[in-house]
Amino acid sequence: MEEQYFIKGGNPLVGEVEISGAKNSALGILAAAIMADEDVTVRNLPDVSDIRNFLEAIRLIGAQVVYPDPDDPHVVKINGRGIQSLEANNDYIRQIRASYYLIGALLGKYKEAAVALPGGCAIGARPINQHQKGFRALGADVHICNGIIFTKAERLIGKSIYLDVVSVGATINIMLAASMAEGTTIIENAAKEPHVVDVAQMLNQMGADIRGAGTSRIRIYGVRKLHGADHEIIPDQIEAGTFMCAAAATRGDVTVTHVIPQHLESITAKLVDMGAMVEVAETNDALRVWAPDRLVSTTIKTLPHPGFPTDMQSQFAVCLTLAEGTSLVTETIFENRFQYADELTKMGANLTVEGTTAFIQGVKGLTGATVAAMDLRAGAALVIAGLAAEGVTCVEHIKYIQRGYERFEEKIRSLGGDIRRVTVHDREDQKRELLKLQLEVI
Ligand code: EPZ
Repeated sequence: MEEQYFIKGGNPLVGEVEISGAKNSALGILAAAIMADEDVTVRNLPDVSDIRNFLEAIRLIGAQVVYPDPDDPHVVKINGRGIQSLEANNDYIRQIRASYYLIGALLGKYKEAAVALPGGCAIGARPINQHQKGFRALGADVHICNGIIFTKAERLIGKSIYLDVVSVGATINIMLAASMAEGTTIIENAAKEPHVVDVAQMLNQMGADIRGAGTSRIRIYGVRKLHGADHEIIPDQIEAGTFMCAAAATRGDVTVTHVIPQHLESITAKLVDMGAMVEVAETNDALRVWAPDRLVSTTIKTLPHPGFPTDMQSQFAVCLTLAEGTSLVTETIFENRFQYADELTKMGANLTVEGTTAFIQGVKGLTGATVAAMDLRAGAALVIAGLAAEGVTCVEHIKYIQRGYERFEEKIRSLGGDIRRVTVHDREDQKRELLKLQLEVI
């Protein structure tokens, strides 16, 4: 039994949609929050399963987690004073990739941590050798045993650390640990994503002294103690980009609100390359995307920020399957991020993947099919394909999508998309639901 999306395609998405807080920022922010022994209020938290699981995980080690308004899951108050266990080894931890941020936070604050390593990931190997390199450089002993990463240090001493790979996770994790080390740490070849800057800003609000976040060289002057703060998480650039692609793919007209347009520059540029129109609102916190005509082909190459984000690659590939001409999509960050290709082929797309590049020959239209989400962003991309396709699409394994998209089907319906979330017990159930929808289409 699982929940699945059933989509009747063909409706252009039209209207306004409010973008939630950035999941990939929130995970680092919540880890930073437990480093103080005072109340830290976090606002604009996305209400998604990765966040709910992370909050349970920190509650289990003793942190106080309170919703000031029980009816509002977007604001949480955290206090790290009550932490009794430095071993975070539970099912909640194992469900989230970025649970490893607890290592940097606990190591920085208590000079010790034992955190269960996250499970495998569909998009690639996801090593953490750069995280380990950073912790060791600061003076910690790091070893992995029985699926748990153990770190311990008498003292953490600031060092200059060069990342062999531009890594968001390693940058944030080292920033967390170094914020309470003695002396100065410099991270060279650091990641520059907006969520790295957001975590640095939150740490500085808590009394840390971090400069240069957003550049490839981040300086962290260690402090002895961090204090309470009140921080609002930045909008989710990838959720915004996903809805911008959905507007373009369905030839709709969508305004995404509560965004930071400058975080969306590479996404906007590519949509304009493909013939979509993009307009920044005068309030500079919303973007309108519309695409009355058929999109045109382009080439995409994913790169670390400010390059084109790998988390937008699958959503753009869907747009390109419908564009006039041949497009190339090259994935340089992860080694296995084209799993959606076979699923799109079932819908009539014409794409082949060779190594790190997808060759996409645009077709006039897609047709509905039953497809499987393999990871968070590929799942969102398949929903976009279903919204643009003719006929009925069923997207299976939507738990992946619910990890990072708040009220996804609700937001799509508010834009006129015909999508429903159904609990399906078996294949027969699924067939009945599909038939019901197909009869509606006729
Ligand atoms: C973060 O993952 C995001 N996840 C990913 O978003 C995103 O795709 C990625 O950054 C790149 O922007 C979260 O923030 C929770 P990396 P992260 O470390 O930190 C290699 C989504 O859909 N690497 O920047 O794990 C790694 O294999 C998710 O929201 C090492 O070799 O990504 C990859 O090839 C998917 N050694 C490259 O670096 C390390 O120690 C970039 O990974 C760490 C990473």
